[in-house]
Parts: sequence; structure tokens; C-alpha cells
Amino acid sequence: MSYELTVFYGTETGNSRGIAEKVLKKGSKNGVDVHLRDLAECTLDDMKAVSHPILVVISTWDDGAPPPNAVPFCEELAETTEDLSALHYTVLALGDEEYPLFCECGKQIDEKLAAQGAVRVLERKDLGADFMVSYMGWSKTFWKTMARVYGVAA
Ligand SMILES: Cc1cc2nc3c(=O)[nH]c(=O)nc-3n(C[C@H](O)[C@H](O)[C@H](O)COP(=O)(O)O)c2cc1C
Repeated sequence: MSYELTVFYGTETGNSRGIAEKVLKKGSKNGVDVHLRDLAECTLDDMKAVSHPILVVISTWDDGAPPPNAVPFCEELAETTEDLSALHYTVLALGDEEYPLFCECGKQIDEKLAAQGAVRVLERKDLGADFMVSYMGWSKTFWKTMARVYGVAA
């Protein structure tokens, strides 16, 4: 049986893509077919077309905004009234605790997906400036959850 995960990432300076690549590496070791998609090139239809679990890794920029190239996707999601109950998702938010709107973009995406009926597989995690370190603990929890819920190897 093959297991799949699609990681949608939104990034300005590459940190979120770097995390997405780590997820891909770890997933591949676990026999999971991990696909990476840049939100700069995605529409909501692209996300809706995925029939396996998804992970959204996204940073926050000025005044709580999405990374500039992910703004069209985030606006489309914010405005949708569609039923997204077929989506099984987790959000991993990147930011910096020094900013008042810490990880705001990830928070908004997490809340909007839930509001449209999508199934939250694991609680959102907000990673700050030490994201490379805190990612490791999250990764263990994430793959354990994937194992428990979907039966993939942890
Ligand atoms: C100009 C600027 C504005 C930022 N604004 C925020 C913010 O409002 N909230 C937040 O949590 N992080 C903010 N950050 C921190 C970034 O989200 C953080 O550096 C993140 O790791 C960048 O990830 P990326 O390379 O994937 O875009 C800001 C960083 C910069 C340089």
C-alpha cells in the first residue's frame, strides 16, 4: 500500500520551503510519497484536488500578511464559501515572536480550513525564530499522528 502526503508551502526567503524539504526527506524514509507544492503557483482547486492528507507550511510577513507570492492563494481561501470537508490537513506556521502578529498567516489558514469543514489532523504548531530546533519535536509528533491516523510508518 502506498501512502501520500502533499506539502503546500508559502515562503519569501526559503525557510518554509526548507522545512517542506525536510518533511519530504523524512517521509521518503518512511515510505511515504511526499509531493511539494509552492502556494505561489497554486489555486484552491489545486488543493481541493488532493485526496490524501495535506500539510501547509507557511510564514508570516508584514503586519501578519502572507508571503507576498502566496497572497493570491490566501485571498482565494479567505473568500471561499466552499465545502472543504474532504481535506485532511495540518498547518505548520513559521514566524518570529518579536512581531505582534506572530504566525498570523498560518493561524488564519488553519481557522479558515476548519471553518469550511476541513478535518484538522493535528493541532497547528507555530514555530518562531528557532524554527529549525523546534521543528524536530514537531516532526516526531506529526509522524506519530500520521501513523496513528493513517497507518503510515512513524
Ligand atoms: C520584514 C519582515 C516582516 C515579518 N513579519 C512577521 C510577522 O508579522 N509575524 C511573524 O510571526 N513573523 C514575521 N516575520 C518573520 C518571518 O515570518 C520568519 O523570518 C520566517 O522564518 C520566514 O519564513 P520564509 O523564509 O518561509 O518566508 C517577518 C520577517 C521580516 C524580515
